[in-house]
Amino acid sequence: MFPAASLVTTLLLILSIVATPVEVRTTRVTLPFAKRISANGGAINLVKHDQARAATLKDRGSAIQNGKLDRRDGGIAVTNEAVSYVAAVGVGDPATIYNLFVDTGSSNIWVGAGTPYTPTSTSMNTGEPVSVTYGSGSFSGEEWLDTVSLCSGLTITGQSIGVASTSSGSSGVDGILGLGPESLTEGTLTDEPDTLIPTVTQNLYTQGTISEEVVGVFFAPTTTEPFTNGELIFGSTDPSGDIGGISYVPLTTTSPSSFYWGINQSIMYGSDTVLAETAGIVDTGTTLILIASNAYSAYQSATGATLDDNTGLLQLTTAQYDVLQNLNFNIGSVAYALIPNGQIWPRSLNTYIGGTTDAIYSIVNDIGSPSGEGLDFINGQAFLERFYCVFDSTNHRIGFATTNYTDATTN
Ligand SMILES: *[C@@H]1O[C@H](CO)[C@@H](O)[C@H](O)[C@H]1NC(C)=O
Ligand SMILES: *[C@@H]1O[C@H](CO)[C@@H](O)[C@H](O)[C@H]1NC(C)=O
Repeated sequence: MFPAASLVTTLLLILSIVATPVEVRTTRVTLPFAKRISANGGAINLVKHDQARAATLKDRGSAIQNGKLDRRDGGIAVTNEAVSYVAAVGVGDPATIYNLFVDTGSSNIWVGAGTPYTPTSTSMNTGEPVSVTYGSGSFSGEEWLDTVSLCSGLTITGQSIGVASTSSGSSGVDGILGLGPESLTEGTLTDEPDTLIPTVTQNLYTQGTISEEVVGVFFAPTTTEPFTNGELIFGSTDPSGDIGGISYVPLTTTSPSSFYWGINQSIMYGSDTVLAETAGIVDTGTTLILIASNAYSAYQSATGATLDDNTGLLQLTTAQYDVLQNLNFNIGSVAYALIPNGQIWPRSLNTYIGGTTDAIYSIVNDIGSPSGEGLDFINGQAFLERFYCVFDSTNHRIGFATTNYTDATTN
């Protein structure tokens, strides 16, 4: 269903009446990506990973707000990703292809952690040291300017990239494709802490390749791995899969969620509120759906699920699953219903996470702190696989739409 890297070039704006020059522009750039489950010697602990990431995102946002950001402590737990979205990106000419972790929670682009960086005639070393610490790992190295190809024929010139000389914890990927807000690049050029680095999305926009600074993330539920069934759409809100109408909400003003792709939302289990309206984020780097501890307790009581020690996930009996209600995410004026099948881990992947074949595990888990802290939920991959999401920098908003996978029962 998803064609190989396709560059959809559209001739736009042929204004038929006035003799306006014809403007040719690539309006939609799609970059396929795959979901990859790291198999670092056995079962992975999704919950620990996601909670660590939540904690570091929160700390980092608070530190930015208080003007106390120390890059050595802050950052996000990008590394040892349990389940990551990975896209192939070219750098240089001829391009070396790197598998990059698609991360909406950070904004730098990094290469060289696995496959080494090979400078070509398009590469220019700025000599600037660049460094980001991401919770359980880090990257440091030098800044280069180089040509970045997002797919065949589509390039950004002079993109600032970090070339890792040392990195830790980045097993399985060559680096990071940061799709977060530009402000998160502040301080990453260590000798010029106030300088912001234009992100990939920004450069696509300023170089005229896309006409709006938006990125869409379209993903289908994954039941095998690795499987390329996602796509990033730059500059357009129109994925190749079918979606319903997109509804937008403004980015939240509540810190620390406001430093990321943050929104306000409330969550209801059936008709019962489990999380009153509060701020949180949408994040490609989190596998599960994490909610404040009090909301998690309410969800557990309402469903009757019990904690499974092996996976750290809530486990449902068949009888409990049969009567599971929708989990409704109220965002703006729209309720996005996550059906029972969307609330469970794909059973075909149970053994990857230390689970028992055929057991039913919930993907709703505890963020690790009570609500009221300004980052009270993370709508992670389990959410993005059911609802198309548009990160719109131009209009400071996020859009959501249902897809043909919203009500899929493949898990
Ligand atoms: C999505 O659903 C509509 C209506 O059922 C159908 O016509 C369309 O082919 C589906 N598209 C995909 C991508 O499955
Ligand atoms: C989000 O919630 C906060 C706290 O209730 C409120 O101040 C803010 O106006 C809401 N909306 C946005 C877009 O931040």
